[in-house]
Amino acid sequence: MSLNKDLIGKLINVTSKAAVACYRHVGKKNKKIADKEATDSMRKNLNFLDIKGKVVIGEGELDEAPMLFIGENLGTGKGPVIDIAVDPLEGTNFVANNLPGALSVIAIAEEGNLFHAPETYMDKIAVSKDVPYDAIDLDYTIEKNIKNLADHKNKDTTKITACLLDRPRHSEIIKKLKKMKVNIRLLSDGDVSGALLVTNPKYNVDIFLGIGGGPEGVLAASALDAYNCKFQGRFLFNNEKDISRAKSMGIKDLNKKYEINEIVKGDSIFCATGITPCDLVNGIIEKNSMYVTETLVTHKESIIDTFKKELPKT
Ligand code: FBP
Repeated sequence: MSLNKDLIGKLINVTSKAAVACYRHVGKKNKKIADKEATDSMRKNLNFLDIKGKVVIGEGELDEAPMLFIGENLGTGKGPVIDIAVDPLEGTNFVANNLPGALSVIAIAEEGNLFHAPETYMDKIAVSKDVPYDAIDLDYTIEKNIKNLADHKNKDTTKITACLLDRPRHSEIIKKLKKMKVNIRLLSDGDVSGALLVTNPKYNVDIFLGIGGGPEGVLAASALDAYNCKFQGRFLFNNEKDISRAKSMGIKDLNKKYEINEIVKGDSIFCATGITPCDLVNGIIEKNSMYVTETLVTHKESIIDTFKKELPKT
């Protein structure tokens, strides 16, 4: 079954309003308030929709409210039954410090079709659709992945660009990439948009890899699925709380490597509205009495495009 296309416009409205809600906090050095404003807006506007929605990927658990928590029911309860993954403000540091790359993001699929996971880290790898599926794998060494990628792209390994978060936990990977003279694009934050840089050669990223947020991995996977890109993820459960939470959610094999079609199944819709600009979309632009937002939309069954929306400043 497919998701009704009418939902696309409604979700653009939800992420656009969440983006606008935290826009006034850009550069104000308070990421908590910015996140809360985006979250409150997203919850309010999702609750107006005729859906029977459930948050399967959110920001923490019930006791960490006011964030949109895993298991929270959203919508009027009258429409289609859907799974919802949210990141009302992806890139809290970007908003706090007025830096490019902040997004408001949502993904939906039919009930049972989006991976249901606790908030934890995920080891990820993503490449474009033109790379054969078995050429790249989370279980291969860095050297093997880069070599295979270069072979399939018919270029030297020194012409490959790898994108990853700039974190101490990646020092070994970075060392190996440097040794191979791979071009390295380090991100200070924001690995939803980072992963999506493999979707189009114009971004000049051949491979996205490394450890980032699990929720961000599921969100990126839903968009990458529409682009037919390859994505694999392995959740990392570092403490007892995460492990018991994962088990209570039905995750039996804690070391399992998930293919994209195990993370997102069937039809899905992904919307990411720019708050501050990035490669994928413009940030919010003020035009007279209006805010103009730009949203990247992927709907697996119909479109991949960006859409502008005007919202009044009041
Ligand atoms: P927030 O918007 O929640 O601050 O997340 C930003 C982010 O960079 C994500 O894109 C990424 O997945 C995660 O943080 C990485 O976490 P950490 O900063 O702990 O390495």
